[in-house]
Parts: sequence; structure tokens; C-alpha cells
Amino acid sequence: MTGPSVIHTTVSLSDRSYTVHTGPGALALVAPELRRVLGPSPNRALIVHDLGVPAPTEHALANDLRAHGFTVTTVTITPTEEAKSLATLERVLVALGSSGHSRIDPVIALGGGIVGDLAGFAAASWQRGVPVAQCPTTLLSMADASVGGKTGVNLTVPSPSDPPRPRLLKNMVGAFHQPALVAADTAVLASLPDRHRRAGLAECIKHALISTGLTGLDLLDDTRRLIPAVRNGDAVATAELLALSVRLKAEVVRRDERESTESSAGGDGGERMLLNLGHTFGHAIETIPHLTPDPARPDLAPLHHGEAVALGMVAACEASRAAGLCGPEIGQQLASLLHDAGLPTRVAGLPATDEILARMGSDKKAAGGAVRLILPTGRGTCRVVRGLDPGAVRAGIDAMRA
Ligand SMILES: NC(=O)c1ccc[n+]([C@@H]2O[C@H](COP(=O)([O-])OP(=O)(O)OC[C@H]3O[C@@H](n4cnc5c(N)ncnc54)[C@H](O)[C@@H]3O)[C@@H](O)[C@H]2O)c1
Repeated sequence: MTGPSVIHTTVSLSDRSYTVHTGPGALALVAPELRRVLGPSPNRALIVHDLGVPAPTEHALANDLRAHGFTVTTVTITPTEEAKSLATLERVLVALGSSGHSRIDPVIALGGGIVGDLAGFAAASWQRGVPVAQCPTTLLSMADASVGGKTGVNLTVPSPSDPPRPRLLKNMVGAFHQPALVAADTAVLASLPDRHRRAGLAECIKHALISTGLTGLDLLDDTRRLIPAVRNGDAVATAELLALSVRLKAEVVRRDERESTESSAGGDGGERMLLNLGHTFGHAIETIPHLTPDPARPDLAPLHHGEAVALGMVAACEASRAAGLCGPEIGQQLASLLHDAGLPTRVAGLPATDEILARMGSDKKAAGGAVRLILPTGRGTCRVVRGLDPGAVRAGIDAMRA
């Protein structure tokens, strides 16, 4: 059942505009909304189902789609960063080919950010682009990954080390492909493990840290107020926090859909780049297999994406402070928010700083040989900085060490 508690946010992109439906019961809107948006012609739908999403949720969505005239095929994915790969993409494309999926039929991503990115990229690639409905089922994918049209997979390459070791390059192959709709049904979060709920809060905190500079709205106080209730699974608080994130992201995407590398204000990058706060440092450590958020629990390795982003934001604050771009209070404020959210601010076993620097150099945010960093400059404000003093970058990396 959907009710008045579902919040509808428009991402305004002229003929590619779409609505993000956030709240309990939003999944029931998918089938009728697809019919409304796509019209009566499409007759097939492919669901890419995240194995972690309880089967009854997938069955209900599939039945709903059938009731609206779609023939449904489901592909189930076990979502890991290793499986966010060209091989898994091929599995989805083969399923599209086998089911006779035409260029007007939709793909439906039902899962966390991994499934959303993968299914979105499959939709972008199949016959050069078919509609995709993003149905995020983790806090992180509801707050961030499902909105804005970034899709893609990771790529494994040999590292230049001797002997060469395989190295995972995050999101290195992909496309911008805006969804036809997003349905973030907060009721499905009931089954989400606590660690993933906490990891999702990292992207909400990130949004608060960039909010004032982007929209003039200061989301920091609301975020701090809502975090404890969201951690306790409070549905109303969760929908409220998600709505803040979705509104911010919708506005950023409206202004800078393709993450331009030039700023209209003459800086080192466009506004969408600010959403990468914590990501250049974070991506560099996310794929290091032995890192764990709790030194007493090696079994928790590797870091989840949100945990790596949390640590990456710690590094960004310290790099900015070391470069004289912000005061120490910005890092302290972040540490306090991360503490409330149950997220790590330090990590044990980090490799040598030079290795982290090398990893950062191969991040997508690097351009023309210089790493671009998103650095806090004040309360709720950040800027893109290219070619930061290496000493400040090292200080940022060292701030993540336990
Ligand atoms: N496209 C973007 O703009 C964007 C933005 C941020 C992150 N990302 C990507 O998103 C990915 C991280 O996404 P994530 O944090 O959602 O992780 P995830 O996709 O790995 O999902 C986390 C875990 O939760 C399980 N799960 C999903 N929904 C569940 C539910 N309702 N109940 C129980 N278990 C459930 C999954 O099976 C998985 O084990 C990364 O690959 C990252 O690069 C993309």
C-alpha cells in the first residue's frame, strides 16, 4: 500500500525528467508508473534482483508487472564489488537477448548500489539504451546511487607491482543513463543488516557537508538530529533524511548532469563533482581486501563502500586543513557525525602512503595526471581542488590510520 507518506521528488532534465518516489510502499508504484511513463507498447520487463532482497519482495513486484501486461524475466545477482564486472554484465545482457527484450522494454534494478549500477549499465548498453526503473533497497542506494543516472561496472587490471597483482578499478566502465523512475520503498529496509544501514548514512553525511554551498540549505543540523532515529529503524525519520538527500542530489544533477570537468565559476570542476567528496581517498582503500572497520574483527573485511567514503571524508578534511583551506573544526564536526552514525574514522593496516597515492592516481577523478580532490572549505561548503600540495594529501592519508 502506498500512502501520503510517499514523497515525490522531480529530477528536472527536460525530456529526461523523472520522479523519485520515496517512502513505505513505493514499490507498488513501479508497474503503474512504468505504464504511465512508457505507454501501452512495452510488453517485457527484466528484473535484476539482488540476492539479498527477500524473495517475496521480488515476487510481489513481478506479479504487479504481470498484472500490468508485462512478461517478466528475473536474473538474480550476488552483489560483490568483484561481481560488479563485465562478466556479470554479460549474464544480464544474455538474459535480455534470450527473453527477446526489445528496445522499448524496461529493465528493473531491484537491489543495492551494485545491482543498480550494473542493471543501469545493462539498460544503457542493450540496443544502445532501454528504459530502466531504479528500485533501490539499501539506504545508500536510496540516498545516492539510484538518482542521477551514473551506471557502470568495475574493471580488474594487473597492477604495476612485481609480481603483478590483480587490481580492481572502481566504476571504470560505464555510462550516464537516467532512469525512467526511481522507487525507494523504505519498507524494504526492514531486512537490511545494521552495518549496511550505517554505511548508507555516510552518503547522507556527505550530502550535508556539501549542502550549503550547493543549495544554500544547511542540512547538517537536520542530519545530526535524524541519525539516531534512522539507526533505530524509525521509518518516518528515514524517509525524512532520504528526502533531504534526494532533493539535494536532484538539484545537483539538474545543474550539472554529466559531472562537467569545468566550473562555470572558474574552479577546477563542475558542481556534480562535489558529490565525490571522500571518494578519491575512499576508492583508493575500498578495494584493499584486508581492511576492516573494526580492528578486533578481521572477518568484517573488506570495507563497505560507505565505510570507505566515511574514511575518505576524514582524509579530505585533514588534507584541506593541512593546506590551510579550512579550520580543524570541520574535521571535528565530521568525526562527531561519523561517531553518531557508527562509522569508522580510522582504519588499521593501511598500506604505505605511497601505495595509497598510486591508487588515487588511477581514480576516475584524476585528470591530466593531477588528482582532483573535493575539499571542505567551511561549514557545509566544499570545492574541487586540482594539484593539491603533496604534503597535504599525505596528511589526509595519514589521518585515516589507526
Ligand atoms: N551510481 C552512483 O551514483 C553511485 C553512488 C554511490 C555508490 N554507488 C555504488 O553503489 C555500491 C554500493 O551500494 P550499497 O551500499 O547499496 O551496497 P550493495 O549493493 O553491496 O548492497 C549491500 C548489501 O545489502 C544487501 N541488500 C540489498 N538490499 C537489501 C535488503 N533490502 N535487505 C537485506 N539485504 C539487502 C545486498 O545483497 C548486499 O549484500 C558501490 O558499488 C558504489 O560504487 C553508486
